[in-house]
Amino acid sequence: MQTTTADLSDIDLRDRDVFEQGVPHEWFARLRRDAPVFEHPIDQGPRIWILSRYADITAVSADWQRNSSAEANGSIRGLDEVDEERWQAEVAARAATSVDEDVTAGVMIMMDPPAHSKYRRLVSKAFTPRMVTLLEPAIRRITAGLIDQAIAEGEVDFVPKVAEPVPLMAITEMLGAPEEDRPQLFTWANRLIGSEDPEFSIDPRDHENAVTSFHQYAAAMAEDRRANPRDDMATALIEAEIDGQKMSTDAFCRFFRLLTSAGAESTRYTTASGVQALIENPDQFQALRDDPTLVPNAVEEILRWATPVMYFRRAVTEDYELHGKQIRAGDKVVLWYASANRDEEVFDDPNTFNIYRTPNKHIAFGSGGPHFCLGSGLARLQLNIMFEELAARVERIEPLGDPVRLRSNFMNGIKHLPVRLHPA
Ligand code: HEM
Repeated sequence: MQTTTADLSDIDLRDRDVFEQGVPHEWFARLRRDAPVFEHPIDQGPRIWILSRYADITAVSADWQRNSSAEANGSIRGLDEVDEERWQAEVAARAATSVDEDVTAGVMIMMDPPAHSKYRRLVSKAFTPRMVTLLEPAIRRITAGLIDQAIAEGEVDFVPKVAEPVPLMAITEMLGAPEEDRPQLFTWANRLIGSEDPEFSIDPRDHENAVTSFHQYAAAMAEDRRANPRDDMATALIEAEIDGQKMSTDAFCRFFRLLTSAGAESTRYTTASGVQALIENPDQFQALRDDPTLVPNAVEEILRWATPVMYFRRAVTEDYELHGKQIRAGDKVVLWYASANRDEEVFDDPNTFNIYRTPNKHIAFGSGGPHFCLGSGLARLQLNIMFEELAARVERIEPLGDPVRLRSNFMNGIKHLPVRLHPA
């Protein structure tokens, strides 16, 4: 149960030991109530402000002029490690390519308008609702197959067996990678994603090799689509044009990589958290079985409840005041979506998982700012299919052990979930 008795001086959002046990929602409740703009202790680097209230996070996210994604110093994530070396390399790379000349030179999540808006318009020409809808039959076939296989196996670890393959399949399917290339692509993709969790740590050489191989593969794909256009997203991306400018092969490779890293883990962990929530609330799983039209509402609640991407960070470009705190240019603000989605000012009984919840204006995909998740439609499609197929095929999800959580303060995830799926 949530309490608001946590001591402010105990709060350390860098502490992975804490997150490994669970998202410290009692800390966030205390912050929302008493310290909505909280100066986080740090060892070095610029001042870090933790924002925990829904209204503030939404406002700061929209105010990109004063809260920049491009100047986030090393990464838009990371509370503790300011990776100066990587940041300097990034700045040098950007300086080498004027954004005016090549709007596709950056990685969109680390760009600000107007360059970001231009880039986003370009990729949105390919990343259309139609492109996403076209994937439905393939995603359904893959998902149903994985669930049936898990049922047949009996005792399974749901995360690697069922939750993990679907998002990677969906991305490779969308881009139009041939079926026979996918096992290799998955191996590279998993090496690219890596994780701060030691269980998934990747040898730096394997990571580098995967980056190179992945880029070579994407480059060949881009060349192929230029020569032989098809009805797939890779072709749409290569052909899309904004102000007379098209995506270079290099930019295509970078975008391919961003999609893989942004789309794979987040969707996997949402599925895993959703299954765990339904194990803990068997009556709600039964309700989905009785009335599958509840699935879309349940998916929104799973997104709110899990908030798999817990925060993003912005860099302040201009002094301003918020709740009496003086925020200065050069400081960082951290937008804790995980806290906003439990804000009692916005959600009734926020610590209760309730698939009937309405309204549910969660911000698991970000709020209305320029970076609102590009893949939200694809993620929702995958999640809806997953929970529809589970409700149709499985009578009961029997837990066979405790879930094992990811060791991360950025991704809220369950990495192992031993279960037995009893067939319907
Ligand atoms: C449940 C799964 C997902 C969650 C929770 C999630 C969450 C997020 C969040 C919080 C942001 C940043 C929003 C902001 O700062 O305002 C974001 C951005 C983004 N996401 Fe997702 N995401 C998910 C799935 C996906 C998928 C499947 C894809 C693509 C295949 C994807 C691609 C992107 C991209 C490209 C951006 C950057 C957009 C930009 O900078 O304009 N995401 N996502």
